[in-house]
This record gives sequence, C-alpha cells and structure tokens, in this order.
Amino acid sequence: MVVVGPLVFAALAAAETIPTPDYCAAIAGKQWVSPLEARQCIYSFPVVPEIKDNIIEVVNKTIAMHTSVNYQISAPKPFDKDVHEDLHKDLARIKQQEYSSEFEFHLDVFYAFRRLNDGHCVVINRCYDSLYVSYLPTPLVLLTAADGQQNVHIAPEAFAIASAEFGDEIEFWQNALPGKLKGQLRLSGAQVLSINDQDPFAAVNANALVTGGYQSYATRQNSFFSSYYRGDSGWLYQMGNFAQQVHPLTDAVKLAIRRINSTSIDTITLPYRSRFGSASKNFTDSASYRINNCLATNRTNGVDVYAVSAQQESEEPLPIAYFQQQPLISRKEARRHAMNVLVDALPLSDIDLPEIMQPGPALNESYSVAQFYLLPDNSTGVLALGSFSTANFSAFQHSLLDGLVELKSLGATQLLVDVTNNGGGYICIAHWLHRIIIGSRSTTEPQAGLDTTTRAGPLAQLIVQRIIKDGMDPDTELLYNPSKWSNASHVPFTPETDWLKPLTNLTINGHEDAFSQRLGQECQPFDVDPPRKGLFKAKDVVIISNGRCASSCSLFSITMSKLEGARVPIFSTIDTEIKTTHLKNHTLAPPDFLANIVQGSLKNGKTTPADLNFPLTMETVNRPDAIWEAVSKEVFKSFVPPPLVVQIE
Ligand SMILES: *[C@@H]1O[C@H](CO)[C@@H](O)[C@H](O)[C@H]1NC(C)=O
Ligand SMILES: *[C@@H]1O[C@H](CO)[C@@H](O)[C@H](O)[C@H]1NC(C)=O
Ligand SMILES: *[C@@H]1O[C@H](CO)[C@@H](O)[C@H](O)[C@H]1NC(C)=O
Ligand SMILES: *[C@@H]1O[C@H](CO)[C@@H](O)[C@H](O)[C@H]1NC(C)=O
Ligand SMILES: *[C@@H]1O[C@H](CO)[C@@H](O)[C@H](O)[C@H]1NC(C)=O
Ligand SMILES: *[C@@H]1O[C@H](CO)[C@@H](O)[C@H](O)[C@H]1NC(C)=O
Ligand SMILES: *[C@@H]1O[C@H](CO)[C@@H](O)[C@H](O)[C@H]1NC(C)=O
Ligand SMILES: *[C@@H]1O[C@H](CO)[C@@H](O)[C@H](O)[C@H]1NC(C)=O
Ligand SMILES: *[C@@H]1O[C@H](CO)[C@@H](O)[C@H](O)[C@H]1NC(C)=O
Ligand SMILES: *[C@@H]1O[C@H](CO)[C@@H](O)[C@H](O)[C@H]1NC(C)=O
Repeated sequence: MVVVGPLVFAALAAAETIPTPDYCAAIAGKQWVSPLEARQCIYSFPVVPEIKDNIIEVVNKTIAMHTSVNYQISAPKPFDKDVHEDLHKDLARIKQQEYSSEFEFHLDVFYAFRRLNDGHCVVINRCYDSLYVSYLPTPLVLLTAADGQQNVHIAPEAFAIASAEFGDEIEFWQNALPGKLKGQLRLSGAQVLSINDQDPFAAVNANALVTGGYQSYATRQNSFFSSYYRGDSGWLYQMGNFAQQVHPLTDAVKLAIRRINSTSIDTITLPYRSRFGSASKNFTDSASYRINNCLATNRTNGVDVYAVSAQQESEEPLPIAYFQQQPLISRKEARRHAMNVLVDALPLSDIDLPEIMQPGPALNESYSVAQFYLLPDNSTGVLALGSFSTANFSAFQHSLLDGLVELKSLGATQLLVDVTNNGGGYICIAHWLHRIIIGSRSTTEPQAGLDTTTRAGPLAQLIVQRIIKDGMDPDTELLYNPSKWSNASHVPFTPETDWLKPLTNLTINGHEDAFSQRLGQECQPFDVDPPRKGLFKAKDVVIISNGRCASSCSLFSITMSKLEGARVPIFSTIDTEIKTTHLKNHTLAPPDFLANIVQGSLKNGKTTPADLNFPLTMETVNRPDAIWEAVSKEVFKSFVPPPLVVQIE
C-alpha cells in the first residue's frame, strides 16, 4: 500500500487556527534554513481531530488489502529476527494517543510503517516528508583496507559533490569547522573514528532500524552510505541517510576523524542544513504553507475512471510518482504496464555523479537507464541498469535486446548486469530481460517468473463482483478485471470469471487472510519477438548490486539466480518485495492492485549472503567502471563458474 498524503479535506482548513508567532512566515521563500527553523514551522500545527481520525481510518482500511502487514507481525525466515511490526496494534495505540503537534502524530505513523521494512507499504505526507531535506557535505562510505579491515570514511568525492551541489552554502559548513580546519572543507577520504562519541557502526545500525524499504538488515545498513545510480539522463549520486535526511530532526553531528596522510585525530561538529524540497510548494506564511502543501488536492485520491473525461484526466504523473524510485512515468504508460516499484519518502536523487567518476561513453544502443559498455578486456560486456522503468516501454524493450546483441557482436562472451539502487519498474521488462539473456527454456517460457496470487479480502471480492455482475468496467481499465489476468495454466480468464476464487484461506500470525487461486503470467507473448537462443549462458552472467535492488529488480535477480541454477542472492524474499497496491476507498476505484508471490517460492533456497561480497576501496568506491573491472577480474579469472550475485559492500 502506498498512501500519499495529505489525506485531508479542504473544508477543514477554515477551522484551523493559525499559530502565533508565525514560524513559517519567518522561513518562507528561503532555500536553505537551519533544521531548527524548519522544525519550528512544521511543529507549530496542532492535531486536528477530524484529520487524525480520517488518516487512521483510511490507512486502517487500506492495510486490510496489503499483503505484508500480517506477515510482518512476525516475519517468516530468513527475516524472522529482523521484522516484528504489528500495524494494527500501532494504529490502535496511535488512535488513543495525544500529540502536541500534527507533525509528532505523523512521525509516529511514518515510523510505524517504516518498521515494516517494506518499500511498498509506506505513508508519505507531503505536508512533512521531504518538505525540507537536511544535508551534510560529508557523505560516508565503507571501505576495506589492504589488511582487510573495514572502516567508515568520508567519501573521497565528498568535496566535489558538495561544492557542485550546494553552491555558496558550502561556506556555511567551512566556517563551522574549528581552528586550522576553518575555511577548508578538506575532509574527503578521512577515516571516521566515531560519530557522536560512539563507534560509527552504532549510527549505521540505528539508521538501519528506521530507514525502512528493505527487509534485509545488511541492505538497510547500506542505506547509510553514499552510492551511485544510473538515472534516465545521466549518472547520479545518492548521498545516503547520514548526509541526507527526510526530516529536519538533527541539528549537528560530532565526528572524530583522521584525515588522509594525517596522524592526528580531529574532532569536528558539522551542522546539518535543511533545503526546501524539490517537490515542496512555495508558501509565504503558515496559512499558505497548509493550503499549498497539506491539503488534499483533486489528485490525492482515486477517481471513478468512467466519470472523468479523457480531457480532464491529466497526463501529469500522479503525486506518488515523485516518490517512486524510477524515472517519471506518464499516467498512461503506468496504467498500461504492470509496475512494481519501490517508494521512498525522499524523491530520487538528482545530484550528479562527478564527471571524472562516470564511466566513459556508452555503446550506441544504450537508452535512458540502460547503458551498455565493453570493458577493456574486450570480452566482458556491462549492462548498467538503474531501473526497470523508462518513459517509453517499447523503446526500452528494444534497447535491451539491441544493446546485448551489440555487445555480443563486439565480442563479449560474459556479462555484468549492474542493478545498484535499481528500485524496480515494469514487471514485464524484468521477464523480458531474463528471457533474452537465457533464451527459450522451461524456466523462461511461458513465464520467467514465479507463482503469484493476490490477496482477496472482502473489498477485493466486492470489486470483482461489481465488474463481472454489474459490468462496471466495460473498457477493462481496472486491475481487478478478470480480463487482465490468466489462470495457473496461463489461460486468460473470460470477462465473467470470478477469478479470485477458489479462495485459499490462511491464518497468518493469528490473522485470517484470504488469497486468490494461483495466477499465471501476463507478459508473453511479448510485443517484440525474442531470439530463440539465449544471448549469454547463465554461468557467464553476474549481477552486481549494493543490495538495494527492489521490486521488479529483485524479481529479475531472484529468478535469474534461482531458476538458472545459481545461488540465492541477499536481496529479499519475494513474498513482501513483489506487490503493488494503490489506496482508493471507492469500491470502483482503480488498482487496489496486489500482486503477491506465493510464500513457498523461496522455501528451498537458503537466503545466504550474496555469492561474493566485493569489498570497496578508496580507488573503486562509487566509480562504476572501476568496480566493473575489478569484479570482472575477480569473478571471471578462473575456470570455476562465477558466482551469480555480487554484493558491493
Ligand atoms: C518558488 O520560489 C522560488 C524561490 O523563491 C522560485 O524560484 C520559484 O519560481 C517559485 N516557484 C513557484 C512555482 O512559484
Ligand atoms: C481497523 O479496522 C478494524 C476492522 O474494521 C477494526 O476492528 C479496528 O478497530 C480498526 N482500528 C483502528 C485503529 O481504527
Ligand atoms: C598523501 O600522501 C601521498 C604520498 O606523499 C600523496 O601522494 C598524496 O597526494 C597525499 N594525499 C593527500 C590527500 O594529501
Ligand atoms: C484539479 O485542480 C486543478 C487546479 O488545482 C485544476 O486545474 C484541474 O482542472 C482540476 N481537475 C479536475 C479533474 O477537477
Ligand atoms: C555510434 O554512433 C556514432 C554517431 O552516430 C557513430 O559515429 C558510430 O560509428 C556508432 N558506433 C557504432 C559501433 O556503430
Ligand atoms: C580490445 O580492442 C581494442 C580495439 O580493437 C584493441 O585496441 C585492444 O588492444 C583490445 N584489448 C585487448 C585486451 O585485447
Ligand atoms: C517509443 O519508442 C518507439 C520505438 O520503440 C517509438 O516507435 C515510439 O514512437 C516511442 N513513443 C513515444 C511516445 O515517443
Ligand atoms: C485454466 O483454464 C483452462 C480453460 O478454462 C482450463 O482448461 C485449465 O484447467 C485452467 N487451469 C487451471 C490451473 O485452473
Ligand atoms: C474460505 O473462506 C470462505 C468464507 O470466508 C469460504 O466461503 C470458502 O469456502 C473457504 N475456502 C476454503 C478452501 O476453505
Ligand atoms: C471515500 O472516503 C471519503 C472520506 O471518508 C468519503 O467522503 C467518500 O464518500 C468515500 N467514497 C465512497 C465511494 O465511499
């Protein structure tokens, strides 16, 4: 489930009292403020009981349709130690609790959902989340020294990033440095010995408990550090949770560092600075802040697709699109193709990876997030794949095939697929890529995927009844329309089939849950004819990531490794990673889409860490081509079959 707030009604605005003094007026129009100034504004609004009750009601009704909620009360193996969150209990507690401000209430809801560690089940309120984003000029990395010791460092590129991205604001930080360091933010590469007087890993682990998005603890630890990402039009840089935060909650951090070539230890205190969010709406005072950022718009909730004329329906991406970890996709393209994508409270980064760290020119068949390279050994091809979504599905599908064919024609016999920070996207592109790499086999046809089923609670059943009995979806716009699905033998359902049935009734952590019958695939036959023979042998394909490979990305990685005889990757179990739902309280509203992968799929696999954990050094960190060359040398050097999944750490 994804709830993009604000779930409130315009009529209530009038009833609100505007706080005095007006802390929002004091920061209106400013690009940079201190976290304290931002907090004074966003903490200044009291709870409005009607809004609080509405949010709890809508959220509560929506989680009734979401798959992971009951499982996460006590997550199945291998995440049994990592996830124990009972949202029903949380909401009951939150409903009773008094809050001194609406933001305090929101944070309680926000963190409860984060603790599910499910990148699809989040509550984002645009009134508060990423309204002001807090930054430090010192993103951190985890490096492995020659002796094998792993240490936290300020990223070698920190100064280059900060000066390019933060402009004049960098002086604020330079002037905050003590004594001889004042005025020169030359901290890049320094080893971090402590954070707020504690071992750096105390901060890494504290962040892992609240960052959400991934079930795997190690992946959530990785979220603390900076990383790279292939975006739609260039190479981008993720600051990581240490240097970039969704809320202005922290004022400063104290670090003990040892700079490069220095034997002494410096202690510095760096203040966070909060920047007005890229999706935040301008305001001049508290009243306009509320109206522009906190009230529901005509796009916050679902629509009756048959009551809105084609002209009225904006092609503009939905509000949720800004938080999906993929390039912006038009509503039309998003409706036409099934998606499975991660949602985060931070919009996708638009900070450029410094040019000298970017790989050289890509091959001609590259398109958007899919970039092809041939390494200097002339035998290793690279597909850097930052997402499973692009603005043009068809162009993307062609590019993946043409690029791999081009690599082969240039002599590539082995392939690295780098899915670092790939937040997912089109489900059928994940299937397509798997199919063209591996060729026509029992594991790729009729589907390169896994058994799916969907949650079939009372509301879902009611929607299906309205469609099949009352003919309320003549144009097959809705995801609950039987015409969109096929049965376990891949035969499409006829329009009148009550396709959720027969139901499977399960009791999950003490809660009763109904699921649909097993479902088949909806991707094949593809619009483009795939070559019958695979382009690469499974043993010659290596998937590289930093663990942050979600949704359709994990579908691709897991099916590649599981079905093609390789080992199980670190990423995530399928049961909670692969699902999509939208919040709509109208019975006829679109989606409420749930695509869930049956729990049994991974039972035979051991969720071991990745097949190879690849340590980063000062020379390779955040430099994609250096990492590819080093990984290629390591995994393809011998006659031993290479590991399929490489986790960068
Ligand atoms: C919001 O304010 C900024 C800075 O004051 C300005 O550059 C921008 O154009 C404004 N945006 C809108 C939509 O008015
Ligand atoms: C959530 O909904 C369930 C089922 O209708 C209800 O029993 C429960 O009291 C609701 N919880 C809250 C916090 O409103
Ligand atoms: C550290 O010392 C080495 C050897 O003297 C030198 O090459 C390098 O440039 C120095 N690095 C920095 C950041 O001062
Ligand atoms: C939604 O609101 C915007 C302006 O706030 C308006 O331009 C648009 O026509 C409205 N759309 C619908 C379908 O009411
Ligand atoms: C790639 O495109 C460029 C510019 O269109 C062209 O000069 C070059 O020959 C092409 N390379 C290959 C390998 O086709
Ligand atoms: C790779 O191909 C290029 C261009 O044909 C050639 O200059 C280079 O020597 C080759 N490298 C290796 C390692 O064979
Ligand atoms: C999408 O790409 C295809 C090529 O695969 C092209 O024919 C089509 O015109 C493109 N669509 C848009 C909207 O650009
Ligand atoms: C799927 O539907 C076809 C046609 O009705 C039927 O023959 C087949 O048995 C069904 N498969 C399953 C698994 O229900
Ligand atoms: C599941 O429960 C429903 C009622 O909630 C019932 O109609 C159905 O027969 C049950 N299915 C099975 C397989 O027990
Ligand atoms: C959806 O919920 C809102 C708020 O609770 C309510 O005003 C509206 O009538 C509901 N729509 C339907 C179809 O029930």
